Amino acid sequence: MKILLVGGGGREHALAWKMACSPLCDKMWAAPGNPGIAQHAECLDIRAMDIGGIVSFVRDNAVDLVVVGPEEPLAAGLADAVRQAGALCFGPSAAGARIESDKAYAKNLMRAASVPTAEARIFTDLGLAKDYVLSRDHGVAVKASGLAAGKGVVVCLEPYQAVKPLEDMMERKVFGEAGNTVVIEELLAGPEATVLALCDGRNIYPLPPIQDHKPVGDGDTGPNTGGMGTYSPVPLVDDKAMDRIEREILVPIVDAMRRDFGRYEGVLYAGLMFTPAGPKVIEFNCRFGDPECQPLMMRFRSDLVEVLVATAQHRLDRMTVEFDPRPAVCVVMASGGYPGSYAKGYEITGIDQAEALADVKVFHAGTALQDGTLVNSGGRVLGVTALGETLAEAQRRAYEAVAKIHWKDCFCRHDIAAKAMR
Ligand code: AMP
Ligand code: GLY
Repeated sequence: MKILLVGGGGREHALAWKMACSPLCDKMWAAPGNPGIAQHAECLDIRAMDIGGIVSFVRDNAVDLVVVGPEEPLAAGLADAVRQAGALCFGPSAAGARIESDKAYAKNLMRAASVPTAEARIFTDLGLAKDYVLSRDHGVAVKASGLAAGKGVVVCLEPYQAVKPLEDMMERKVFGEAGNTVVIEELLAGPEATVLALCDGRNIYPLPPIQDHKPVGDGDTGPNTGGMGTYSPVPLVDDKAMDRIEREILVPIVDAMRRDFGRYEGVLYAGLMFTPAGPKVIEFNCRFGDPECQPLMMRFRSDLVEVLVATAQHRLDRMTVEFDPRPAVCVVMASGGYPGSYAKGYEITGIDQAEALADVKVFHAGTALQDGTLVNSGGRVLGVTALGETLAEAQRRAYEAVAKIHWKDCFCRHDIAAKAMR
């Protein structure tokens, strides 16, 4: 099979690494890829958002399967264009990606399908939005309805704190058009976890739960990031909870999407909060999480290409996906200053020594080659991932590997997976 992977982050490196193990994979390209992905695929000078360029490449090279990592090209219709060109695509249509790219739409769909989620109001008028928050006694979460690279949510413990983010989004347009509509939610409380499910338009196949760590600092302090580390499985999400999530959340939302526009094909990401009243949806995404994908791929024992093709061909009912029972932990190493501004171009050392440890894999997220030297080129730079017989062992190994890697001003959180061991 000839495969084109779209994207160039840590999630895509994990997917490339696992796909390269498949006997079905004859040739893999990546658009645009990164130096880690380049170990497994030929990297192309085509951006993930260059839909015309990707479709031309697919046609010219008779690509069989396109696997899309990030949400932006999906929301812009990449999967529709690839299918029209006659190739298989892993990833939902633009209509399906709306579950992530339009939070107001997602909220209305959840309401219509009685999917448990935070109570919310939707506003397109700044004055009405401000009046609403100031009339409340409790805090709110303010969310830009459109895509904002994971930065469009502000949690406000006091109602008055919502005024500035509302003005930023609706008046100062810090997220551009994405903030024209805002969703204002009641605050929920409880631990969080992510459940991903493969969806082939007919069948749903939930994957093991994962927990992300979004705030930048130890103990969940500081501003939110794209994710500073993950582990899987999550003890809090036992089989009983998974049954409930499938029954109350995944099945009804996929049914609601089918009624609304047709098949949802790809992976559905459910960000959940485990409240005293049960699991509730914080957000849906239309793709694998990053860095949720890294521990999942570390534990993935089946043939990933076979599973992605079966999803694209509506044959998930005949698949079983096997996972390593051992837990995996992924620690993100980031550039000093992230999620604010940071300096790039520092030499990264020690990856080979880290990967020499048993059951350790280092996934590249924000790296580049500069005159043959590997340097940091993004905020989140590496996802250092390890398996262990226990979660504690996986954690110890991941940090042992982190200790071997260095570049100027690099940092990480020191408590990834600690919550599960308290
Ligand atoms: P999101 O980008 O939607 O995942 O939101 C980022 C983070 O904001 C989540 O991981 C939660 O910790 C928090 N959050 C979002 N919505 C709510 C809510 N309704 N109540 C409490 N916390 C929330
Ligand atoms: N790690 C959060 C996300 O991928 O949305």
